[in-house]
Amino acid sequence: MFKHIDAYAGDPILSLVETFLQDPRPNKVNLGIGLYYDEDGRIPLLDVVKRTEIALAAAGLTRSYLPMEGLAAYRETVQRLVFGADRAAARDKRIVTVQTIGGSGALKVGADLLKRYFPDSGIWVSDPTWDNHRSMFDGAGIAVHDYPYYDPKSGGVRFAEMLATISSLPERSIVLLHPCCHNPTGVDLSQDQWRELFPVLIKKRLIPYFDMAYQGYGDGIDEDAWAVRALADAGGNFFVGNSFSKSLSLYGERCGALSVVCPDQAQADLLLGQLKFTVRRNYSSPPTHGGLIVSRILGDAASTAEWQAEVAKMRERIKAMRRSLHEVISARLPGRDFGYFLNQRGMFSYTGLSPAQVDTLREQHAVYLVNSGRICVAGLNLKNVAYVAEAMAAVM
Ligand code: LMR
Repeated sequence: MFKHIDAYAGDPILSLVETFLQDPRPNKVNLGIGLYYDEDGRIPLLDVVKRTEIALAAAGLTRSYLPMEGLAAYRETVQRLVFGADRAAARDKRIVTVQTIGGSGALKVGADLLKRYFPDSGIWVSDPTWDNHRSMFDGAGIAVHDYPYYDPKSGGVRFAEMLATISSLPERSIVLLHPCCHNPTGVDLSQDQWRELFPVLIKKRLIPYFDMAYQGYGDGIDEDAWAVRALADAGGNFFVGNSFSKSLSLYGERCGALSVVCPDQAQADLLLGQLKFTVRRNYSSPPTHGGLIVSRILGDAASTAEWQAEVAKMRERIKAMRRSLHEVISARLPGRDFGYFLNQRGMFSYTGLSPAQVDTLREQHAVYLVNSGRICVAGLNLKNVAYVAEAMAAVM
């Protein structure tokens, strides 16, 4: 029956975790997957999350199904977090938000909906992008193409080429954008570059699709949402997927949302209906637990402030690790410019290491990073950063 099923080659990020776990070497370091580890190498359970869970358990809530679109309180608080407290588009009820199974669920629901209503549209993703972007949109039957993005020579963005490519796309093409903490490079557009891009997206009648999985890890919760909010203010109609995996350290709870900014309330209502239908025929409705945690935290001013302080600590720790890495590598290889470690934003850093150097790091030094040379800076801590920096310098 199943002889024709071919073997799964594995996922470039998740399969690396499996290899890492099997490695018996005590000095091994995992810089592969995008997870925030604290100074002790643990994935934190935030105090505010723990307290909220205790309160939820004490409340003894029953677990009926959620509506297809998710918890009302969750959708409302997420919308405020993504778009800011007082956005005109929200006041006009032009934004529709549904709770999804993580940021990936948001991508899948959006992709299915776009395939149904824009069957001929392709998607353009940055070169490079998160490996799974291609796979998810391809899986939804959407043709995936690249736009130029990272410039290995300068460590910046090939912005003129990016703009030229996007300007030449057919109407209604989908353009996937990272509003902050670009995955995998850590290189973001400047506000001036976003300002140049927006009129092109609008005038060319393109469909921007923001994937915001790292809000808070770049410069701050509001700062990192700047591009999303600015495009809403500029009158854009677009999709935004967001996630609480990293920002609330709720990876396994799969808390995400998909928002769509529409031209008017009537279209937003129609879209909500079709998003519900898309959810229903994928997985029926989202889970309760994570949605309750998030909506309780974001719905309470003191808990929100506490959470924001936790995010600030995580963000600052990552920046401190960037500085340490930069210091040791620069001392070991003088005359070379490693300033990119300091300029990149968020969890990830593109190191410029080749696949062969990545293999050597793993085989000889037990330091794991994905094949593209991306490291998750949040896997570094005071105990391993010098070791990693020395190992990297040895293969560079
Ligand atoms: C990553 O890029 O490592 C994370 O987004 C985790 C994942 O699912 O790939």
